[in-house]
Amino acid sequence: LRTAAVVLAAGSGKRMESSTKKQYMLIAGKPVIYYSLKTFQESFVDEIVLVVSPGDAMYCKKEIVEKYGFSKVQHIVEGGKERYHSVAIGLDSISSCDFVFIHDGARPVVTEDILERALCCVREYEACVVGMPVKDTIKIADREGNIASTPERKLVWTIQTPQAFALPLIKGAYQNLLQKEKELLKAGISVTDDAMVIETLTGHPVRLVEGSYENIKITTPEDIQIAEHLLLHK
Ligand code: CTP
Ligand code: MG
Repeated sequence: LRTAAVVLAAGSGKRMESSTKKQYMLIAGKPVIYYSLKTFQESFVDEIVLVVSPGDAMYCKKEIVEKYGFSKVQHIVEGGKERYHSVAIGLDSISSCDFVFIHDGARPVVTEDILERALCCVREYEACVVGMPVKDTIKIADREGNIASTPERKLVWTIQTPQAFALPLIKGAYQNLLQKEKELLKAGISVTDDAMVIETLTGHPVRLVEGSYENIKITTPEDIQIAEHLLLHK
């Protein structure tokens, strides 16, 4: 059984409003993406593809991959404009494996337990995403800013990464996505996660598996402090 990970770090971090891209901001002296790479390096995963912004590959190779001895990082590739472009490019450099874990490099608090749960789940269902049931009640708004409806809380989950898939299933879905990109854009569908690609382009069900409330994504400035606290007390 061979597994690979695609770790995404090719975003520009607009919502962080920082001069250093969020994936390279320091938490306890190490860049944000160090933490998830370390978790994958020490896990059952066999190979890692790191997807970075054009121009960042040399910095990542020298200052992160070589410096910290992440020997499982076998490719560092340049990502694309949207997250799904970066994923498609990452998937292209994976050769032969059974399952692939797609992970946001901006989620440093992922743990080996989460990876184990996702592995167990993907082996059974071929497609799964980690997430957590919401704690707050969620409302769906209308375009005017009024409440349109209230989904049943126990059926609402927030979605995290990793998202894990059988390789042929996810590769096929992404190829299909890129072929239909124009139509989807016209229909106003914006693809923000990998499960959506499976949902929209295949009939394959995607299983939800428990991540953790601590597996946050670094998005805005306060998230750096929260992640630092979580990582130091892990
Ligand atoms: N990502 C990527 N390629 C892109 C866009 C995003 O590899 N073209 C990665 C980011 O680096 C991040 C993950 O996908 O690890 C989740 O994306 P997000 O949190 O939205 O990061 P950014 O797009 O960088 O941030 P923002 O949306 O605020 O600009
Ligand atoms: Mg983004």
